[in-house]
Amino acid sequence: MKDKDWVRVFDTTLRDGEQSPGCTMNTEEKVAIALQLEALGVDVIEAGFAAASLGDFEAVKNVSAAVRGPVVLSLARTGEKDTDDALRAVQGAAHPGIHVFIATSDLHLEHKLGMSRAEVVDAAAWAVERVKQHVDHVEFSAEDASRSDRDYLCEVFAAAIAAGATVCNVPDTTGYAVPERTRELFAFLGANTEGGRDVVWSAHCHNDLGMAVANTVAAVEGGARQVECTLNGIGERAGNTSLEEVVMLLKTRADHYGVDTRVNTEQIYPCSQLLARTIGVTISPTKPIVGDNAFAHEAGIHQDGVLKNKLTYEIMTPQSVGRVSNTLVLGKHSGRAALADRLKTLGVNLEHIDFSDVFVRFKALADKKKKVYDEDLYTLVADDSEVEGAFELKDLSVSSSLGGEPSAQLCVLVNGELRSADSGGDGAVDACFAAIKKATGLSPRLESYQVKGITGGTDAIGEVTCMVRQADLVVRGHGSHTDIIMASALAFVDALNRLQAAARRAGTVPRETGP
Ligand code: KIV
Ligand code: ZN
Repeated sequence: MKDKDWVRVFDTTLRDGEQSPGCTMNTEEKVAIALQLEALGVDVIEAGFAAASLGDFEAVKNVSAAVRGPVVLSLARTGEKDTDDALRAVQGAAHPGIHVFIATSDLHLEHKLGMSRAEVVDAAAWAVERVKQHVDHVEFSAEDASRSDRDYLCEVFAAAIAAGATVCNVPDTTGYAVPERTRELFAFLGANTEGGRDVVWSAHCHNDLGMAVANTVAAVEGGARQVECTLNGIGERAGNTSLEEVVMLLKTRADHYGVDTRVNTEQIYPCSQLLARTIGVTISPTKPIVGDNAFAHEAGIHQDGVLKNKLTYEIMTPQSVGRVSNTLVLGKHSGRAALADRLKTLGVNLEHIDFSDVFVRFKALADKKKKVYDEDLYTLVADDSEVEGAFELKDLSVSSSLGGEPSAQLCVLVNGELRSADSGGDGAVDACFAAIKKATGLSPRLESYQVKGITGGTDAIGEVTCMVRQADLVVRGHGSHTDIIMASALAFVDALNRLQAAARRAGTVPRETGP
C-alpha cells in the first residue's frame, strides 16, 4: 500500500472524549487506556490539555512516559503558558507532539476572541514556530473551521505550515457540516493552501447531527489522511467521531474508499470495554461494532440465512473486532496457564494486574458458576484495580418483602475496627447505602448508579458502577458479584475508598457525619 493510502488514526478519547460530562478519568485510568490504545495500534494519542489543570498536566506527563509507539500530544492554545506547559508535559514521550489551536470563524473571532483575522494568523504562526523549536510533530487546528471563510482558512493554514506545522486539522467543532461540503472543503484546502501538498490533512468531527462518521469519511475522500476520533464516540455534547465505526467502515468498504488504517481491529472490543468500565458509561445495545446487539441476529429469517451462509446478513465478523461473545472459555478445572492465555487473547496486559489474585477469584467464580465467559473475565480483571482503602465490607444481609420497608444490616471494617450498622430505605440498594454511610461516617451525594448484567442467565455477574460527590471531588466506584445487591454495596464502599484517596491527594478531608 502506498503512503497516501494509509489513514492515520488520531485518538482523542483522553482529551476531547474526557471533556464530556461523566467521562472524567484520573491519571492512572488514562495511562491504562493509553496503553490499550497503543495495543490497538493508533498512530497518535492526544493525552490531554496540559495547561487546563494540574491533573491534566500530570496525565499528559504520565501517558508520555508510559507509551512508546504512538505520537503523544498535548493540546495548547496559542499563548506562552499553554505552549510551555504542553512542551513540558510531553518532553518524556518517545514521539512527542504539540497540537496548537485557535478559532478562525468570524463568529468566534468577534464574540469569543475579540481578535482580527490578521491577529489570529499571527498568533497561530507565533505559537507553531515556538513549539517547533522543541518538537518535530506539530499539528495546527483551525477551530470552527467548517463555519470559517474558505479563503481565510487557506491563509491561516499557510501561515501555520510556513511556521512548521506538519498536520493541518479542519474541525467541525459544532457538528454543523454535511458530507458533500466537507469533501469539497478538504479538496479545496489541499489544492489552494500554500504548502498544503506537503502536510497531512486531518478531519475532526462532532456528532451533533449524527454526521460525524459520514463527514469524516467524506473528508478522507477529499484528501484527509488523518481521522480524529474517540473510543465509543464519547466527547463534548453528542460526542466525536467514533473510532470503531470509522476504522471498520474504512476496512469493510476498502473497495469504495481505497484506504486503510494500521489499527489492529481485534483490539477494538477490549478497548471499548475498558473505556466503558473505566468511566461507567454503558454502551447503547444498538451502537455499531461494540453494542451488545451489533452482531446478534434475532429475527428468524435472519438466523436462517446466517446459518445457511453468514454472508447473507453479516458484513464483518465479530471476531474481526475482537468479540468472542458468549464463548465458553474456562471452567473450574482450568489452570493458571489457560487463564493467562485467555486474558492475553482478550488484550489484558498481565503485567498490569495482580495475576495471582485474579486467578484465586477466577477459581472462586468458577466454583459458583457453571460457565465462565469472556465478559466475566473482563469483570474479574477490572475488579483487580480496586483501591486499597480504609473501608472493607465484611458482611451484609438484606431483607425485602412486598409491602414492607426493605432493610439492610452490615458490618464494615473501618481502619481495622469492625463497625455494624443497619438502616431501612426506599429499596434494598438505598437501605444498603444508608447503612454503609452510618458505618463509615461518610455521606457523599450519589450522582449516578448503573447496573449491568454481564452475560445472560441468573447466575451472571452483575457489575455496578456508581459515582459519588463530596464538594468538588467526584469519584467512581465499581463492584461486581453474582448478587446484584452485594455488587452495589461493594461499588459504594469502593467509591468511599477512592473518595478518601482523592481527598488525601487534594489535601482535604471527606466530611464525616459520625457513625
Ligand atoms: O472541536 C474542536 O474544534 C476541537 C479542537 C480543539 C481541535 O476539539
Ligand atoms: Zn473537538
